[in-house]
Amino acid sequence: MTPDSIRHAYRDAAQEQVFQFFDHLSPSAQETLLHQAAAIDLAEIDHLVKTLVRASGSTSVDVAGVEPAQYVPLPRAGGDPAQWAAAKAAGESALRAGRVAAFTVAGGQGTRLGFDGPKGTFPVTPLTGKTLFQVFAEKILAASRRYGKPIPWFIMTSDINHEATVAFFEAHDHFGIEPGLIQFFSQGLMPAVTPEGKILLAAPGQIALSPDGHGGSLRALVRNGCTAKMASMGIDVVSYFQVDNPLVHCIDPAFIGFHLLHASELTSKTCLKTYAAEKVGVFVQRGGRAEVLEYSDLPATLTNATDPDGQLRFRAGSIAIHIFSRELVERMGDAKDPALRLPFHLAKKKVPTVDANGQPIEPSEPNGIKFEMFVFDALPFAKNPVIVETAREDEFSPVKNAEGNDSPKTCRDDQLRQWARWCLAAGKSIPVDSTGLPTVSFEISPLFADSGEAFAARAAEIDIQDRTILEG
Ligand code: UD1
Repeated sequence: MTPDSIRHAYRDAAQEQVFQFFDHLSPSAQETLLHQAAAIDLAEIDHLVKTLVRASGSTSVDVAGVEPAQYVPLPRAGGDPAQWAAAKAAGESALRAGRVAAFTVAGGQGTRLGFDGPKGTFPVTPLTGKTLFQVFAEKILAASRRYGKPIPWFIMTSDINHEATVAFFEAHDHFGIEPGLIQFFSQGLMPAVTPEGKILLAAPGQIALSPDGHGGSLRALVRNGCTAKMASMGIDVVSYFQVDNPLVHCIDPAFIGFHLLHASELTSKTCLKTYAAEKVGVFVQRGGRAEVLEYSDLPATLTNATDPDGQLRFRAGSIAIHIFSRELVERMGDAKDPALRLPFHLAKKKVPTVDANGQPIEPSEPNGIKFEMFVFDALPFAKNPVIVETAREDEFSPVKNAEGNDSPKTCRDDQLRQWARWCLAAGKSIPVDSTGLPTVSFEISPLFADSGEAFAARAAEIDIQDRTILEG
């Protein structure tokens, strides 16, 4: 597109305010603005303004007909052990066949944690302070060694952190993973708009852009050639996880197996909520289709509803761990019809912008609307979706806040509790308090053992003292 054709397109879309300072910009600033402007799909923005922004008077989500979702319970909660064993075997055989890739979404801003840098570079382990990225790398490496096949790792970044993320991996020799197996790619950006639908400028030569949500991963995987690369490598199983949870089983044979045995296009993990107000999305179903309702969209009557036995009725929490079939990613990531793509959600935000003279404005009230897609909205589009229970203590302890719940401290303690359980189950004596937290500090690398079972197989060779570090 030429500079003129870009400006014409903005004028035709009644968005010419984007270029109001253009003639006063330096040539390189003009080029940057044109580049940003050309990347925006004006037809998509127009559609969102007409369908969502102008209709956004009421923000309440329709919950009519919502029922709790069905899920496959853990064996300890009544699940069929034979079914779990069959799933594990099926997943292991897919791993031995090299059909599985790991996929991390790491494009978020991590504002709540208040950490300056890509969130994956945050140190999380109790003694050596390994970062989130290193923990995932070691888990992926451990799985690829066990199954004798390389496991490619796709990492979605965003403009905010792409270069810093790539540089971090380079500085750490990709944590022992062959660099060609890791593919970094940036997710898409969306402009913020005013309540009238006008695209906002962050500065005279800069559009107010932000990442398009983790749901942007589906189209980013397609646009960046990742699905094509997967196809060429014979990969059809994509193991998706967020950057904030070091307990995640990045590669989980039973989970993969449930996905394959059900010919599912999207399989999701659930942890039962520990209290009604816990800030996790919940799996629900209506009209025979599964979906996730975000905690903020669930009315209090449903959030607090209980079954006759006193359990929360809507208890299947979404912990943002999924298996996608490559085919679903390709289909949704490349859909031309907006009805077959992930929907956008609106968020009213304070968006720093400029006044009519190009002077900066720091709004004290929300002045703009941002658009984000959520990856779990793919559930109603997926064939044969399956929801599988996992044990919270083994798989979910995210780092989200600087203090309190879901903080670095709770996460370190949960790692220690998990390792203490492995030790005790393998007959090692470890002093623990009434919450299972060891009173000595130690650390087990996933390369030494990435599960209680793997630990038990090596327990005889080690002795655990205060400050013991077990590496691969
Ligand atoms: C999310 C889920 C919630 C779930 C919880 C589990 C949403 C809206 N909510 O909440 O249902 O119960 O996790 O921990 O997702 N990200 C990107 N690009 C973006 C935005 C986010 O890659 O544009 C990534 C982040 O880097 C992070 C993940 O998505 O890895 C989660 O984002 P975050 O905004 O922190 O979600 P939560 O509110 O914690």
